[in-house]
Amino acid sequence: MLRTPVVFLTGASGEIGHTLIERLSEDGSRPVITLDLKPLDPSIAPRVARHFTGSILEPQLLERILSEFEVDQVFHLAALLSTRSEFTPVTAHQVNVEGTMAMLEFAQKQGESHGRPVVFLYPSSIAAYGMPGLDVKAKAGKVKEDDFTNPTTMYGCNKLYCEQLGRYYARHYKQLAPETLSGKVDFRSIRFPGLISAFTVPSGGTSDFAPEMIHAAAQGKPYACFVRPDARIPFMAMPDAVDALLQLAAAPREKLTRTTYNIGAFAPSAAEIQAIVEKAFPGAEITTKVDAKRQGIVDSWPADVDDSAARKDWGLSPRYDLDRAFQEYLIPNIRKAYQG
Ligand code: SER
Repeated sequence: MLRTPVVFLTGASGEIGHTLIERLSEDGSRPVITLDLKPLDPSIAPRVARHFTGSILEPQLLERILSEFEVDQVFHLAALLSTRSEFTPVTAHQVNVEGTMAMLEFAQKQGESHGRPVVFLYPSSIAAYGMPGLDVKAKAGKVKEDDFTNPTTMYGCNKLYCEQLGRYYARHYKQLAPETLSGKVDFRSIRFPGLISAFTVPSGGTSDFAPEMIHAAAQGKPYACFVRPDARIPFMAMPDAVDALLQLAAAPREKLTRTTYNIGAFAPSAAEIQAIVEKAFPGAEITTKVDAKRQGIVDSWPADVDDSAARKDWGLSPRYDLDRAFQEYLIPNIRKAYQG
């Protein structure tokens, strides 16, 4: 029996999954199959060929998918975000590390069985960084991929290690075997900044203060921001994040000089976000109530990232700066969503 070539998304019900499924189904070149602990939202469910409700940690489920489909491309989005992972580090390790390991093995087996490299897209994060102090953070400015990689969070440690695991599969897998087995997994990873979607709010992240502030204001609800006004990390609008994933997925292999790339779009302070939100939604009630511990995590993330490698190797060029993100993407879509 001929298996159908497909794109496979894990964590499909999450924020990135939502927008990515829309884009992949519009493109239509390959059927999309998805996996998540939860069923898909009814608004996107019709766009996928098949959804599996279950866990990446269930070997039988992955075996079944392997036997039915010929997976050419994987977007492995399933993860526990940074705040949640601090409360349950063992579960975070299981999902974020063991889950990724299971998916890399899955891709390796797929690649071995159909003979082509499986392009494996992995969302890493600014959480992979660990700035040693606010003074260093201020002086460092745009941080390069290989600097300051001493994360303080479980999630950041998980992401950094999985970037390395991916590089291992791509370049060195079973290097002592007589035949070459590496390269079956064509691992490509993006260190995402905080992401802001007009349609969904994240759950369990630490960069959530920005999307929470925007969505609360749009609904006329008060919001107490959990970081100081001067807290600064990079952010990006969701359509640019999904474009970046698709661009990296489509990039010619020989153009890629790294397996992990920084990307960024704008890097406002919490006060700058608040000011633009207040202008967009007059009457917004935003206060500050610092959670010193979550603030500590944000302080450990860089103020901005150097994404020149992504721009050079595969043409990263985000459409939305802070102002355009609000004027052209967030405000119109959020207004519609909450009026509807
Ligand atoms: N947005 C993520 C988080 O806050 C960072 O990757 O956990």
